[in-house]
Amino acid sequence: MGATIVLGAQWGDEGKGRVTDFFAEAADVVVRYQGGNNAGHTIIIGDEHFALSLIPSGVMNPSAVPIIANGCVIDPAVLVAEMDMLGGRGVDVSRLRISPDAHLIMPWHKALDEAYETRRGPGAIGTTKKGIGPAYQDKVIRSSAIRVQDLADPVAFRERVERVASEKNAILSAFGAEPYDSTDVAEDYLALADRVVPLIADTALLIHDAIRSGKEVLFEGAQGTLLDVDHGTYPFVTSSNTTAGGAVTGSGIGPKLFDEIVGVSKAYTTRVGEGPFPTELHDEAGARMVRVGGEFGVVTGRQRRPGWLDVVALRYAARVNSLTSLFLTKLDVLSGFDEVPVAVAYDVRGTKTAHLPHLAADLAAATPVYEVMPGWQEDISAVRDFADLPATARAYIEFVEDAIGTPIRWVSVGPERQQAIQR
Ligand code: GDP
Ligand code: IMO
Ligand code: MG
Repeated sequence: MGATIVLGAQWGDEGKGRVTDFFAEAADVVVRYQGGNNAGHTIIIGDEHFALSLIPSGVMNPSAVPIIANGCVIDPAVLVAEMDMLGGRGVDVSRLRISPDAHLIMPWHKALDEAYETRRGPGAIGTTKKGIGPAYQDKVIRSSAIRVQDLADPVAFRERVERVASEKNAILSAFGAEPYDSTDVAEDYLALADRVVPLIADTALLIHDAIRSGKEVLFEGAQGTLLDVDHGTYPFVTSSNTTAGGAVTGSGIGPKLFDEIVGVSKAYTTRVGEGPFPTELHDEAGARMVRVGGEFGVVTGRQRRPGWLDVVALRYAARVNSLTSLFLTKLDVLSGFDEVPVAVAYDVRGTKTAHLPHLAADLAAATPVYEVMPGWQEDISAVRDFADLPATARAYIEFVEDAIGTPIRWVSVGPERQQAIQR
């Protein structure tokens, strides 16, 4: 597949972890390029269940090189804990390489994430409170940012932490939050430096050389298209570019070197956190999706909001990402519904549109226009050939890909590695 991006086509939790793991079998390099430990990616191999937040899901392939690239924000304690968890379960993490330009999540970022959310009151975003937004804010501000490479010089690191902490403590006191002791913070971080610094490499060069020499490089997106800070349902988004452009800036590889861009979508929709969600369900159908689909967040344990599949949003994802194909997950969860509605357009104050409204006020006013497809009752979790799916399930997939205009090349029918159908 050459250089392939796997990214979320909805609001996150589409199954990117399992899809990356699926493709990683053939990969030489696997790259995380944006976000931090707000992500929770699940991989199930037989009886083994892994939840990863920072290290690319492709780490499960013992011959692939996992990379955390410059576009990510890293909480070193979380990184080291994840390395130890994997190491303790027999997964070799010694090949992991980290960009010196990735930014560090500091303790004040988490405290400020919490403080901003409280201050937003009813307008809260529902963040994961992992410090993601404040860390990216500091990256853009520049003067108060601390990067992975700063860990390599303890003397300069202590000075930098002291300077930044005094500024952050002033802001935290305005929020009525506790200040930080800069010496404690610096020493806590430096205690992890010998686990992180040896992994620093020129990751952009590594990835570039791998692509140029014909190796298979897989880029694993976090979050989803509609959580993109520029192209998502702003302000109810995350603080990075989750769309395909994020793989370019977040890894240092020019756009012409990418071959495939695979969008991952559930066969229905979920969203965790606040913000618009036109096809959201508050009825028994939604409760059934949550129950059967196990729709609870990996990171925060929050229940995900359920809804029918939204082709308007997927068409938008196909456009902003230049998707070359789609991987449809969790089709098995839809077994047992008599009818399966699909949103094919929105009604915005009496006007029908096939496009995601570009104004937030219009999106807030949008109600879905559904095409109702017949459902299927069969358990499809053991199906491995498209032809063996119930006719109505096949019709559902064919209808959706026609409506989006992007081929659905894979369908999964269970969380386990083998529970997938290639068309
Ligand atoms: P990610 O953030 O996109 O990697 O997705 P998550 O791991 O947060 O959430 C996806 C959930 O759906 C996980 O619990 C997966 O094990 C599960 N999952 C993935 N694909 C399938 C599938 O085809 N069927 C079912 N039933 N579960 C799936
Ligand atoms: P994966 O990679 C689903 C949501 C949060 C919140 C908003 C902003 O597992 O798909 P943040 O902490 O990033 O500032 O929160 O984004 N969010 C996710 N929702 N899956 C994720 O990651 C998410 N990461 C962040 O719930 O609404
Ligand atoms: Mg997730």
